[in-house]
Amino acid sequence: MIAPCDRRRRRARACDNLAHGACRARLGLECRPHSSGESDMTDPRKERDAEPTTHFGYQSVPESQKAQKVAEVFHSVAARYDLMNDLMSGGVHRLWKRFTIELSGARPGNRVLDIAGGTGDLTRQFSRIVGATGEVVLADINASMLKVGRDRLLDKGVAGNVKFVQADAEKLPFPDNHFDVVTIAFGLRNVTHKEDAIRSMLRVLKPGGRLLVLEFSKPTNPLFSRAYDTYSFSLLPLMGKLITNDADSYRYLAESIRMHPDQETLKGMMVEAGFDRVTYHNMTGGVVALHRGIKP
Ligand SMILES: C[S@@+](CC[C@H](N)C(=O)[O-])C[C@H]1O[C@@H](n2cnc3c(N)ncnc32)[C@H](O)[C@@H]1O
Repeated sequence: MIAPCDRRRRRARACDNLAHGACRARLGLECRPHSSGESDMTDPRKERDAEPTTHFGYQSVPESQKAQKVAEVFHSVAARYDLMNDLMSGGVHRLWKRFTIELSGARPGNRVLDIAGGTGDLTRQFSRIVGATGEVVLADINASMLKVGRDRLLDKGVAGNVKFVQADAEKLPFPDNHFDVVTIAFGLRNVTHKEDAIRSMLRVLKPGGRLLVLEFSKPTNPLFSRAYDTYSFSLLPLMGKLITNDADSYRYLAESIRMHPDQETLKGMMVEAGFDRVTYHNMTGGVVALHRGIKP
């Protein structure tokens, strides 16, 4: 969302580390590109015509470029994505995902959308739960991730009730009131217009349907948070370099986590979009949070 910047910038002066992307995000500095003061005042056309920017990690990029940059990250890491997930989280991502499945309340015969489904961890579990009378759609914007996901699920014998669709979470190509459950796991962070994606997910849910957003969030303990920062900015890029020969993508991961709305902000966004009974659960000290909202 484009926000008038001046008031926010004044507030921002209270933050002594504005170059730090996380500070900028917390202060809501999602603004139009700003050249320094005077030229903005003298050439209002420039201000009007400039393309809105958004963040890609700590970089500020024109909104139209973010999706392409995110796509490059996931094309680059797709082949080794699962291995990296296990190494980075020590396997704990499986527990976070299991809790997501439990809280979804999915039942036999349900229709489930796993958007930003990637290599299909959630899809595989949902396929087992909904059974032959149900259906799971694994949707992702990225063809490389979808291909790895489809091959992997077929190898594991998951077939029959699963469909694969290349789709953007912001513009879901499904009818209104269609799904009992929609999940987005570690995907929302990468979406350019998060409000649009949340509204789109609300639209495709049936009344009473559940949205589950599993995403990195803000650790609740400051000491732990510092240790986690060290891990994220030193170790993660190094692991990325060793395993995928791509340190940058894992630097983006660390940065994009800091730029993502914290627990309360995301809850507010879901309420604002129209979800009912929005709650969240912190896991691993708030490293990850699971938000759930119900479509009224
Ligand atoms: C970190 S992976 C998560 C994959 C899987 N959900 C998991 O938990 O292992 C993020 C996924 O989001 C996808 N993605 C990014 N932007 C998207 C968008 N606008 N719409 C749909 N998928 C998107 C990426 O292609 C990638 O597969």
